[in-house]
Amino acid sequence: MTRKILVTSALPYANGPIHLGHMVEYIQTDIWVRFQKLRGNECYYVCADDAHGTPIMLKARQEGIEPEELIERIGAEHREDFADFHIGFDNYHSTHSEENRYFCTLIYERLKAAGHIETRTIRQAFDPKMDMFLPDRYIKGECPRCGAEDQYGDSCEACGATYTPAELKNAVSVISGERPIEKDSLHYFVRLQDFEPMLKEWTSSPDHIQEEVANKLAEWFEDGLREWDISRDAPYFGFRIPDTEDKYFYVWLDAPVGYMASFKNLCDREGLDFDEFWAADSEAELHHFIGKDIIYFHALFWPAMLEGAGFRKPTQINAHGFLTVNGQKMSKSRGTFIMARSFLNHLNPEYLRYYLAAKLGGGVHDLDLNLDDFTARVNSDLVGKLVNIASRCAGFISKRFGGQLAEQLDDPALFHRVSGQSETIAQLYEDREYARAVREIMNLADQANQYIDEQKPWVLAKEEGQEARVQAVCTQGLNLFRTLMIYLKPVLPKMAEAAEEFLRLPAQQWDDAQSPLLAHRIGPFTPLMTRVDPDKVQAMVEESKQTLAPAAAPAVAEGPLQREPIAEPIGIGDFAKLDLRIARIAEAAHVEGADKLLRLTLDLGGETRNVFAGIKKAYQPEELQGKLTVMVANLQPRKMKFGVSEGMVLAAGPGGEDLWILEPHEGAQPGMRVK
Ligand code: MSP
Ligand code: ZN
Repeated sequence: MTRKILVTSALPYANGPIHLGHMVEYIQTDIWVRFQKLRGNECYYVCADDAHGTPIMLKARQEGIEPEELIERIGAEHREDFADFHIGFDNYHSTHSEENRYFCTLIYERLKAAGHIETRTIRQAFDPKMDMFLPDRYIKGECPRCGAEDQYGDSCEACGATYTPAELKNAVSVISGERPIEKDSLHYFVRLQDFEPMLKEWTSSPDHIQEEVANKLAEWFEDGLREWDISRDAPYFGFRIPDTEDKYFYVWLDAPVGYMASFKNLCDREGLDFDEFWAADSEAELHHFIGKDIIYFHALFWPAMLEGAGFRKPTQINAHGFLTVNGQKMSKSRGTFIMARSFLNHLNPEYLRYYLAAKLGGGVHDLDLNLDDFTARVNSDLVGKLVNIASRCAGFISKRFGGQLAEQLDDPALFHRVSGQSETIAQLYEDREYARAVREIMNLADQANQYIDEQKPWVLAKEEGQEARVQAVCTQGLNLFRTLMIYLKPVLPKMAEAAEEFLRLPAQQWDDAQSPLLAHRIGPFTPLMTRVDPDKVQAMVEESKQTLAPAAAPAVAEGPLQREPIAEPIGIGDFAKLDLRIARIAEAAHVEGADKLLRLTLDLGGETRNVFAGIKKAYQPEELQGKLTVMVANLQPRKMKFGVSEGMVLAAGPGGEDLWILEPHEGAQPGMRVK
């Protein structure tokens, strides 16, 4: 039975370019969609730019243009990036569209009519010069606890404290530099608590969300669901709330509605039935692919909005983890914050599609793009294994048999072993276990190569009277190649297309892998995939450093010494008060609820210390485990929100992801004093 399936990826913000982290999501989704289409299901893949909100409004102002012009330009760049990575959207729209305005208004009106909307006055930071309310991240000042400068309005990167913007010392608006004042404003809320029983039930089904995600949600339920603030005051780039003068829908209200809007736009263009997919009793499937950072919006707010407005809820929400490059968070200074376009400027997009597929599972853990491993893996699998099967057989068929394949396979049992894996592999794609699917397929490729190694057509070709064998063996090899290419078609659509052309075949469907290709004339062989050139990988990294040159330029004129001049001289006695020790990081772990802190268990050789360090943006816990570092061992223990911190590790750098902790030369032992 053909399934009717609507699939979405999260809508990228229209204020910046697509990078390789984003591409994890669009490639993961695209593979799934291509797989469904290959299986003959009726599947649509829609997306859009997320075009509203304060950052976009401010960026347009900064450039001296209207937001409409900005989102148009960025939207065009996004579309090109996606097209060049072969992301096969059926429609790519914008949240700044008439369809979206219509559905936002409709959903809001229905929620209101059902009593799910309430209003309340709240007090908020306000920039008197810009005449606008300030989101927390647009306020900076000194931490009320530790006094660190240049901290955001909600939390301190240095000590991990959380607070309200009003508590910041010497606070300024990031936009104007002016001191914010406090001001009252009427806000609109969705009563999320009205949907608590429904949401609890809905999220408890493993059909709808992954188990790991359900566990996370259970914690949120424990805290209890509260009203969700869906309004923002003018000036704001978004849709005005009906019956108000100067209140706008918060961008996160209109963003998911953008999924509907994009699909509606497709329906109008292609004559599809919108209600068949969105009515409350719809039997079609609705799958959202998202990153783990936006689960709250998709697993709580969105189903509540849909339920409250009389639409169907999603079939499944598939969250994925984050991309790291060379084992670390993508970093601008290391050249690993790689834009989609920088990759395309140097490398074949199918390399990345394959590499990510080879690493993606159905869970939410992060995945790493290790550039050396990337080169080695793509070269060994795609060129060394897959293309190798075809290239070793195609020449003989063209030169000796005028492109004609034999009438029979040399080893039908082997062919059936390979084609017999079809359903197993299909199930792995269905479950988004791509890494396992790829491993399975490469196993089969090994068997095909082994067969050719054993039959040695190049030896047979020199022997008398072996013509028929040569043709049968090469026909066998090419048939195995064709089957494997069909299995990989969701991942490598362009390479599969080139293979179809070489084999003179129409666009292949999944089930075509079942019947061998015999007594058929193929075309001349062309190289289907070339090796990854490590120099080009390096060039891409260099380019990624260069894109930042303009932003980094002032930092060169103004180096660390200029930014922070050397402190007043001290005597050796002052220094001696400081007890610095070598410590082994016995354990490093994330701290539940803290976005900047890691919890380190430091072994001083006989004594352990618990230290919270504000280095989460710069390090993954795994990178630190077992390493030696230097700590201040006689710092007064300090009670923090998450526990007591018994010391401090030493690090250099401006902060955020640009932070480097100290590591002693080899030979130093835990407990040794640094002096
Ligand atoms: N605009 C919102 C989504 C609205 S959906 C109704 C948004 N945009 S985003 O541009 O920040 O991110 C788009 C998607 O890319 C998100 O699902 C996000 O999780 C994903 N990723 C962004 N950076 C990523 C990595 N480094 N790694 C993997 N996915 C990442 O969020
Ligand atoms: Zn602080």
